[in-house]
Amino acid sequence: MNTEILRIDRKNPDEEGIEKAGQIIKSGGLVAFPTETVYGLGGDALNPTSSRKIYEAKGRPSDNPLIVHIADFDDIKRIASLDDDEYTIEDVSKKAKKLADLFWPGPMTIILNKTDAVPYETTGGLDTVAIRMPSDEVARDFITAAGGYVAAPSANLSGRPSPTRASHVIEDLNDRIDMIIDGGDVDIGLESTIVDLTGDRPLILRPGAITALDLAQVLEDIDYDPGIISADSKEAPKAPGMKYRHYAPKGELTVVRGEDSKVTEYINECAERDKHNLIKVGIICSDEHVLRYKAPSVKCAGKLGDETMVAHRLYSILREFDEEDVEVIYSESFEGGNLGRAVMNRLLKAAGQKIIDIDKI
Ligand code: TXA
Ligand code: MG
Repeated sequence: MNTEILRIDRKNPDEEGIEKAGQIIKSGGLVAFPTETVYGLGGDALNPTSSRKIYEAKGRPSDNPLIVHIADFDDIKRIASLDDDEYTIEDVSKKAKKLADLFWPGPMTIILNKTDAVPYETTGGLDTVAIRMPSDEVARDFITAAGGYVAAPSANLSGRPSPTRASHVIEDLNDRIDMIIDGGDVDIGLESTIVDLTGDRPLILRPGAITALDLAQVLEDIDYDPGIISADSKEAPKAPGMKYRHYAPKGELTVVRGEDSKVTEYINECAERDKHNLIKVGIICSDEHVLRYKAPSVKCAGKLGDETMVAHRLYSILREFDEEDVEVIYSESFEGGNLGRAVMNRLLKAAGQKIIDIDKI
C-alpha cells in the first residue's frame, strides 16, 4: 500500500486534504494524525473492520483496547452510557461533564461504560470505552471530517516508543496505512492521562500531563491504579496496555537514581566497563550534566527540573539509540515537576522496571 503524506501548514491548514483524510476513515481506511500528546493511528471507531485493521497495522494484541477520539462533547452520548444506575459511584455523568469542562479538549482520557454503538473490536472485548477529545486543532478538524469517532492508539509499531513527529510514524508504518498527516512535532510528547470512572472509586490508570492534583479539583477521592505504582506490585494494571513492556528501546536500559555526583560516578564506572567489553553504550542525562559523561553517545533530555522538556524529548531519544544500535543505556532519573510521574512511568517501563537506587547500595 502506498502511504500518502499530507503536510499541514498550521497557519494555513489544507482543508481539502483534511476532508480527504476524513473520507479515507469513512470508507474504512487508516490515517495517522498529530495530537498534542503523541501521533495517533486512526480508524472509524464504530466500524469493527477498521479496528481490526488498526491492530494488524501495529502488530498489536487485539485484547488491548483503543481510545475513541471525539471533537465535540455532545458526541459522547452515542458511545458512552451515562446512566448513573449502571455505576457504583454516584453522578458519573456529572463527574465526566466536570472533567470535560476543565480538561477537554486536552491530554485526558475518560473510561465509561460503552453503548452498543461501539463494537467490541474497538474496546478489546471490554464493556467499557476510553474517550478523549484532543486539543490539537488539526486532530479535531480531522475527527470531524471523519464522522466524529476516530479510534486511535499511538501510531507506532507495537513495542516501539510512541511517535512524537511524523518521521517516527513513517519509520514504523510507511506502506502499512493509507495516509499520514504531518503536523510537525507534538507539544507534550507523552500519552494522555487515563481516568477510569467505572469502578468503586475513580482511578488513574496511566499518568500523563493532567496530574492527580489537577483531577482532585473534580474527583476528591482520586487514586492511582495499584497495578501501575510499583514494579513488584502483585496486581495487574487495569489498562490492558500497561502490562506490556511498551516503549522498549533495543538497548538494555537502566535508570540510576540518587545523589547527583554518585549517580554520575556510578554511570561512568558502568559505561567504562561496558566500553572495555566492546559494548556500545548510551547515556541519558540533564543538559547541565552532559560534560560529566564520557560515553560515545550522551543525550541531553532537558534542563535540570524541566520534566516538560524531558517528556518532549524522551521517545525521540529512545528511537535515536535504536538507530545508533546502542546496546546498553544508562539514564539519570527525572522525578520533579508536574510531568515527573509520567516521565518516570514511561522511563521505567522502557527499562523493564530496572532502577538502581544509588543511595541504598
Ligand atoms: O495520548 C493518547 O492517549 C494517545 C493519542 C493518540 O491520543 N493514544 C494512546 O493510545 O496512547 P494507546 O492505544 O497507545 O494507549 C491506550 C491505553 C492502553 O494502555 C489501553 O489498554 C488503555 O488505554 N485502554 C483503552 N481502553 C480502555 C478501557 N476500556 N479500559 C481500560 N484501559 C483502556
Ligand atoms: Mg501506545
